Amino acid sequence: MDKGGAEGVDRKVGVDAAQADKLALSVCVGVLFGNRKDRVGGVAAGVDNALQVLEVVRDLGAAGVAQALVGIHSLLTMPLVRATVDPEVAHQVAVRFGKYGLVPRDRKPDPDVLATDLWGLPLANPVGLAAGFDKNGEAIDGMLAMGFASVEIGSITPRPQPGNPKPRVFRLPEDGAVINRYGFNSEGHTLVLQRLQQRVRAHKYKQDKDHDRKALIEGKLLGINLGKNKSSAAESHEDYVKGVRTFAPLADYLVVNVSSPNTPGLRALQKSEVLRELMAAVVNERDATVKAAGLAKKVPVCVKIAPDMSEEELRDVAKRPASLKSDAELVQQAGGLSGAPVFPLGLRAVRIVRSEIGDKIPIIGCGGIASGKEALAYAAAGARAVQMYTSLVMDGPGAVAKTKDELAAYFEKHGLTWREVVGAEERGVKLPPM
Ligand SMILES: Cc1cc2nc3c(=O)[nH]c(=O)nc-3n(C[C@H](O)[C@H](O)[C@H](O)COP(=O)(O)O)c2cc1C
Repeated sequence: MDKGGAEGVDRKVGVDAAQADKLALSVCVGVLFGNRKDRVGGVAAGVDNALQVLEVVRDLGAAGVAQALVGIHSLLTMPLVRATVDPEVAHQVAVRFGKYGLVPRDRKPDPDVLATDLWGLPLANPVGLAAGFDKNGEAIDGMLAMGFASVEIGSITPRPQPGNPKPRVFRLPEDGAVINRYGFNSEGHTLVLQRLQQRVRAHKYKQDKDHDRKALIEGKLLGINLGKNKSSAAESHEDYVKGVRTFAPLADYLVVNVSSPNTPGLRALQKSEVLRELMAAVVNERDATVKAAGLAKKVPVCVKIAPDMSEEELRDVAKRPASLKSDAELVQQAGGLSGAPVFPLGLRAVRIVRSEIGDKIPIIGCGGIASGKEALAYAAAGARAVQMYTSLVMDGPGAVAKTKDELAAYFEKHGLTWREVVGAEERGVKLPPM
């Protein structure tokens, strides 16, 4: 008997697919009709409890549960995403699914055509999870299991801070976009550090392998994105320097995030002299931390910039593109726009940066990737790897496997590889359309 099949019953724990579906349904009902006073907090706690039960069941080895998860996602995750009043609820629930490993797992090994590398570190595929989904490092293993080759946690601020008042996340379904003004809600350095240290201690994959990945899985990377407290002086480097000191020993790469429009003064740090000073301070601290901690390698540090850097374009973005079709009230919400409408901006930014720095410093492309087609365009423009976020909100957790499958099919059809197409535009190579 195929215990893993839809009809399969795992006798050891007595859970079958239908029962798991029922459980998912009751969680779903609980979420939708839960504590309305503190909808986000109350719902999240309820889901936490229910998912802990499922996690125990999964760890007991219930084969039917893996199959049932597909039902859970069709019954719970996507209806939630569509039906819940507050997109922040959906976000918190999705993080919890990741936390307990209750996500659709991508069990297929990534084909060689997708292989890439960042700073000389091999990556099984080029698709990563962008910062802002797992702000506090709770769902790293779940998101890696979903098929991402890298997960960037954060932005993390030194001291805990609540972020902006709610509501602060808005879906623009007709535009395939999101506006968020979370404002770096973060549990702060100390708590996230403890969580990461605990993960290393508890991890199933022992670090006695041939690799030294902080992601703890070969071919995968853990990025840690550093933010800044709202109450810190606008021009101060100290928050980023503290972030490097705290997290360098636990990251495969660090990110200095100067891209958020939601912290006053943050984007001013993108100006070239200011950025140069900031990066000098950050790199100094990185070198000192690497030495003090006796780390084998220097941890690479990236800068995350917004795709809309000139004054004029900044004004344009603040106004929102005239092409947005969603409800006018939504479109005018303050905050960072992400998803399909930022694709041309992100692509253009990668192209410009690539023409300045060539292929010596790797570029990670991000903004509006929802399928293999956009990922391929970023590669051709010069991105060595890409990240996605909003397409998960819009299309659900299948977006990552879909993007990889489309890329792999394209490469196999045309006898190409990801590595070969990176920077194709600059070399004047015209790629066949996807
Ligand atoms: C709800 C939300 C929260 C985000 N929070 C952060 C953050 O804390 N730090 C950060 O560097 N980027 C953050 N981002 C930006 C994403 O990392 C990404 O750069 C952006 O969404 C563009 O990619 P996408 O079009 O695939 O979503 C956030 C995006 C969204 C939608």
